[in-house]
Amino acid sequence: MSDNQLIKIKNLKSPKGAFLLGHLPQFNTYNKHQVLERWVEECGDLFKIHFVGKEFVVSANPDFNNKMLRLRPEGFKRFSKIDEILKEMGVDGVFNAEGNRWKRHRKPTAEALSVKNVKAFYPIILDKTKSVLEKFKDYAQQKTIVDVQKEFMAFTIDITTEIAFGHKLDTINNKSNSFQKHLEVIFPMINERVTAPIPTWRYFKRKKDKTLDVSLKSIEKVIHGFIDDAKKRLTENPKLKEQPSNFLEALLVENEDVNFTDEEIYGNVFTMLLAGEDTTSNSLSWCMFYLAQHPEIVMKVREEAKAIYTENIPDSYEYVDGLKYAHAVAQEAMRLKPTTPQLYLESNEDITVNNVSIPKGTSIILQNKVAQTQDHYFSNPNDFIPQRWLTNGCPMHKNHSPNVMRAFGGGARYCPGMHLAKTEMIVLISVLCKHFDFKLEVNPETIRERFEFTMYPENLKVTFLPATKR
Ligand code: HEM
Repeated sequence: MSDNQLIKIKNLKSPKGAFLLGHLPQFNTYNKHQVLERWVEECGDLFKIHFVGKEFVVSANPDFNNKMLRLRPEGFKRFSKIDEILKEMGVDGVFNAEGNRWKRHRKPTAEALSVKNVKAFYPIILDKTKSVLEKFKDYAQQKTIVDVQKEFMAFTIDITTEIAFGHKLDTINNKSNSFQKHLEVIFPMINERVTAPIPTWRYFKRKKDKTLDVSLKSIEKVIHGFIDDAKKRLTENPKLKEQPSNFLEALLVENEDVNFTDEEIYGNVFTMLLAGEDTTSNSLSWCMFYLAQHPEIVMKVREEAKAIYTENIPDSYEYVDGLKYAHAVAQEAMRLKPTTPQLYLESNEDITVNNVSIPKGTSIILQNKVAQTQDHYFSNPNDFIPQRWLTNGCPMHKNHSPNVMRAFGGGARYCPGMHLAKTEMIVLISVLCKHFDFKLEVNPETIRERFEFTMYPENLKVTFLPATKR
């Protein structure tokens, strides 16, 4: 893609595929990102594939991908199927909105997740961190082998639900709740329907389609109840407008200019649950995957924690900024194991990016993970070296291209929950390293990447031991 000659999609290379079905049989697996990685090895960083005649361009070129992300919302949008499926489920929020509709959604949702508001939500993060700490102390005492992915999921579910609309769950302490059970029905179905070649559910409803309808109805009813309650609270107590205690209240405050309908408010609260749970908990799981294999890094996070706060947990938001090493751990885990390894775009118009001519309506898969582990961008690319993200004392700065990192997307549509997610991650990593050593209970080779709604480590089992006093 470096010389000036115009590249046409019809001339792009393609991996080997079946005559009629194209690349669909190979792609029809849960780990689609790994299939794409293999194809990048076979064909380079720009190629095309097709599924029963429908063509897709795949790009693993970070410069090209960054440019396309930055050309939104005018030049590119998300795959139109994402909006189609979410709307069909009654979800009209910032993630699936496009063009002017997206602009209308983006400002108030981004404001509701601003640094100022995350600071106001901090007591919720602390409360849930305390619960995890107590639970893991019990685990340490009983030498329990912990399914880390499940535990971290409970942590982010409880935080996200309380931050979304002030609803207290206690998934951490295994208190079952029907609300979360309904979400667990809905989330994988979104993924399944977005990637389904034929929308069978529109012609014939299987059992799981009917279960989905029931869950969607129940969630809708509960969230609309929360919207009514929050409106009432804001009317009765106008002071809340200065420091809203949850996302829904913050959104209603921002909404004074935008005038969202209740359906749009619902769409954005639902989006927050959808976008905030698995992404954050699975990123935390990948942190643990590396920490459990690097006791020397656990020690460094612990030393930092001891230097920054004397209490068990960083009980003031002001401490978070000082936890630079814990932040570097999160950053490095997301570089090696981004939970959203690819993004799906579609061109809104005939457009030329770099020297590639892209006709209107072209579907493009942005494979962002490959570049994050290439030698050209990061020295020792496959090694877990958090120091590379620190400005001082980094032995690895020879190749260090932070701009290649797309774990939170890019351009005007980058993840507005990034600050919230990082705060949750930094605090939990710091607290766990302060209190525990970790022992991986399975051979790391057997811990595989698994892509469902997002990518997580399958079979990650860890024991927690009281921290050694070194
Ligand atoms: C480690 C955790 C997280 C990761 C890795 C992550 C990643 C992403 C990515 C890759 C995108 C697509 C960005 C793009 O198209 O350029 C995105 C969008 C989004 N994320 Fe996150 N996210 C995380 C946590 C959160 C949290 C905690 C929230 C809110 C509670 C959130 C809310 C959103 C929303 C609303 C969008 C849509 C933005 C738009 O279309 O304008 N995310 N996220």
